[in-house]
Amino acid sequence: MSTIEIEGLHPLKGEVWIQGSKNAALPMAAAAILNRGTAVLRNVPEIHDIFCMIRILEAIGCRCRFEKNCLTIQAENLTRVAVPRSYVTAMRSSIVLLGPLLGRCGEAATYYPGGCSIGSRPINLHLHGLRSLGARIRELGDEKLAARADRLRGAKVILPFPSVGATENVLMAAVLAEGTTVLSGAAREPEIAQLCGFLNAMGARISGIGTDTLRIQGVSRLHDAEYTVAGDRIVAGTYLSCVMAAGGEALLRGADGRTLEEVLRGFAAMGAELTVRKEGVFISMKDRPLPVSLRTGPYPGFPTDLQSPLLSLLSVSRGEGEICETVFEDRFAAAEELKKMGARITVLGSRAVVDGRYPLTGAGVRATDLRGGAALVAAGLAAEGRTRVADCGHIFRGYEDICRDLSGLGADIRQTA
Ligand code: UD1
Repeated sequence: MSTIEIEGLHPLKGEVWIQGSKNAALPMAAAAILNRGTAVLRNVPEIHDIFCMIRILEAIGCRCRFEKNCLTIQAENLTRVAVPRSYVTAMRSSIVLLGPLLGRCGEAATYYPGGCSIGSRPINLHLHGLRSLGARIRELGDEKLAARADRLRGAKVILPFPSVGATENVLMAAVLAEGTTVLSGAAREPEIAQLCGFLNAMGARISGIGTDTLRIQGVSRLHDAEYTVAGDRIVAGTYLSCVMAAGGEALLRGADGRTLEEVLRGFAAMGAELTVRKEGVFISMKDRPLPVSLRTGPYPGFPTDLQSPLLSLLSVSRGEGEICETVFEDRFAAAEELKKMGARITVLGSRAVVDGRYPLTGAGVRATDLRGGAALVAAGLAAEGRTRVADCGHIFRGYEDICRDLSGLGADIRQTA
């Protein structure tokens, strides 16, 4: 069980490189199987979720090489169409293989991802989208799903909620389908625009990129391609929160300010001085954060993935703030841990009211999920004394080396086990 120890109240200063985006790289790696050849992805983060995706791709017959953030996937011969159950449990986003497996092989099998600490994680929208393209999907008992389609057919697909995963699954299934698919109500997250960019680089014909209506003209085959994954806006947002929690200034190299507009607006309202530059985002934080009232929402709204770090910031703010979580039903697990450090948080359904006027003190806490764990690290930077964050495996699912990155900025932080 890995633990991160932080000695708080050291201001941060310097530069940090922002790793490539996890949520862009994962569906791109899945999309690589649509091409009966080789795909090369650059700037792929070395994190546990990517290692898990590589193991799944190898289990279904791909050959993968991952060196210095460059992932090469050879998908000439697929040997099975079923995602092993152990991987589905380890990584719920493995569901994103359903669309590409169906598109490439005409059949696919996987399991219901099951709930997790941030909510029940249903996949009804994924299944609705794939069924609209002609897939027959059966539930075989024991949570197993089997999908089949001799040839997927382009269709009008409407998503009643802009689910990121469902948009990606429908997109990838539609690329090799017969005819044109018009996907309305699509999620507009920048990671989807990146996935579209990669698919088009392989020869797909997708238009409407960046909007909520994507038009996908089916093609009969794809070709080899290389693509560079953009910087991770959620990691960038996490590190901005860390600078705001500890005070100080930093340049986040590789962060794309255009994908962080709502975050920068919220953080500026909390007192951060922010400058978007060509090479990244610069932040300076001179005082404790001001309280704000914010709600999360699908892109371009404030990202739910930065809700927990925001909870930490409000816990050390100069008054009473509020967060309304509109994307996931049960995402305030970090609140209970923050309370162990002295935070005053009241959770009322989808709202959390936070009184930041009481100082945080270091304590033993536990990462309950990926972003909740990162939020505890941010809180540790603002707390007096030593904070020990246990169960850090959750954090390593999405951050290459949070201790390296923050100690490079002058934080007193280390992994102890
Ligand atoms: C992706 C991100 C995750 C981020 C989330 C929202 C990846 C690997 N993960 O997750 O980091 O927090 O987007 O920005 O990219 N829903 C349904 N039915 C469905 C699918 C989703 O009801 O079939 C609901 C979910 O329960 C949730 C909401 O829609 O309440 C958003 O989910 P979705 O956008 O699908 O998130 P993910 O793709 O799982």
